[in-house]
Amino acid sequence: MQVVHTIADLRSALAGRGRPAFVPTMGNLHAGHMSLVRQAKPLGDVLVASIFVNRLQFLPNEDFDSYPRTLQDDCAKLQAEGCDIVFAPKESDLYPEPQTFKVQPDPALADILEGHFRPGFFTGVCTVVLKLFNAVFGSTGGGTAVFGKKDYQQRLVIERMVQQLALPVTIVGAEIARAEGGLALSSRNGYLSAQELEQAQALSRALHALAQATRQGQTPLAQLEAQASAALNALGWQTDYLTVRLRDNLQSPGHAQLASTPLVALGAARLGSTRLIDNLEF
Ligand code: PAF
Repeated sequence: MQVVHTIADLRSALAGRGRPAFVPTMGNLHAGHMSLVRQAKPLGDVLVASIFVNRLQFLPNEDFDSYPRTLQDDCAKLQAEGCDIVFAPKESDLYPEPQTFKVQPDPALADILEGHFRPGFFTGVCTVVLKLFNAVFGSTGGGTAVFGKKDYQQRLVIERMVQQLALPVTIVGAEIARAEGGLALSSRNGYLSAQELEQAQALSRALHALAQATRQGQTPLAQLEAQASAALNALGWQTDYLTVRLRDNLQSPGHAQLASTPLVALGAARLGSTRLIDNLEF
């Protein structure tokens, strides 16, 4: 496995190796990332993972400085899964000058939910992902990139970016990896105390309960969502949203769509100082 830090070195490493399968990450890899890597492996001729904590997608009050940076451990895990190339740029490699050109995603998709609570987040994500795609696929004529469905809205935003900008990249969404008890695996779980780890299972349970109540169709959705948030808050969380949306565009479903249209329940909530997100397709 080669570890490269600059776009030029990445392109040299990729020369003559066919079409890449690519897994972008911010490092601090856990079993969820490893399942993305395993799914990506057969999707290309050469498997590339990137590790880059992207300042542009953090708000000033968020955990950019404290975000765990564990490059050596991450590389060992990637090597064990058969990764061919790790692209681990320093900030000065990816942003050698202030990144003043940015990707502005469609506000209808990117300013709701996560984008509402984390303004500018998807601009930061799209800007770095476009740059990473250029780095990985710019000299290879395209390929496939795998994104976890835990970041449900992120995957949709990136799919729309790829479609609207005609990027030669196929996006594959990978199922959420969960711990026993249902907690979605996330680098931020590492911030939780042992007691909070137990409590954190309540988020996926709340999504299941909300999905079930939605399909029963007896109570207006807005009321179910408010009840779900209140119930989670009563367990010591501070809920940003617990909501049911159409899977394709994350708009609210109409009443007639509650019975059988493909929907997704999405949640974001803070437990202590840790903000977690999760979702459930149903
Ligand atoms: O999902 C993530 O880890 C990040 O948002 C990504 C896609 C690597 C961009 O920084």
